[in-house]
Amino acid sequence: MKSLKLVTLATLVTLSVGATFSSVAASVPDEKVATLRQAPLDTNPTPPVMQKVRNTDVKQVRNYPMQPPVIPHKIDGYQIDLKVNKCMSCHARKRVGDSQAPMVSVTHYMDRENNFLADLSPRRYFCTQCHVPQLDAKTLVGNDFIDIDHLIKAEAAKH
Ligand code: HEC
Ligand code: HEC
Repeated sequence: MKSLKLVTLATLVTLSVGATFSSVAASVPDEKVATLRQAPLDTNPTPPVMQKVRNTDVKQVRNYPMQPPVIPHKIDGYQIDLKVNKCMSCHARKRVGDSQAPMVSVTHYMDRENNFLADLSPRRYFCTQCHVPQLDAKTLVGNDFIDIDHLIKAEAAKH
């Protein structure tokens, strides 16, 4: 008897909550539903044009001391998986003679206890986790970051 009462109560709650939700949904017109697709749900919008990767081969300055440098060349189709690391075919210590690429820094050969390993540390294996190429894209949000060198200079100029 007791359990039957409980079940009835639960059904009532479910029914009333369900009813509230469906009445809310029904009152929002389709075109007002916020969606990142920027198009009605039943159409396929044209995707925006792909941005061009900057392929200048000119190293970029870093904005802060430990910034992973951005990649100044295309990386389309460069395979990085369990078996192959295309990046290391140029950037590994033993390959830079042939490739003339800058060697990955020594930190890439260190484990987290700062021991030097004979080969690339697993934690530095997936390069694009930290290094990214740049696009020729319009800045979406302004940036008023001032790096430490400019702050020091400004401070020195005051005295
Ligand atoms: C075919 C050889 C080659 C391959 C493959 C390659 N790179 Fe490079 N990379 C270079 C060379 C050469 C430079 C020096 C600048 C230039 O010429 O583009 C460079 C520059 C860089 C720099 C800039 C270093 C700095 O000090 O500013 C980064 C970061 C980098 N590469 C990351 C990568 C990553 C990540 C991959 C794999 C997704 C990769 N590279 C694959 C040859 C290569
Ligand atoms: C966990 C983040 C991380 C990963 C993963 C990583 N890097 Fe780096 N990389 C950095 C940072 C941070 C620096 C700059 C400071 C330093 O040298 O440690 C750097 C520096 C470099 C440099 C410049 C070296 C120099 O002396 O100027 C190159 C080239 C580079 N990385 C290539 C690679 C390649 C190729 C891979 C993949 C095999 C890779 N990195 C993986 C974070 C990373």
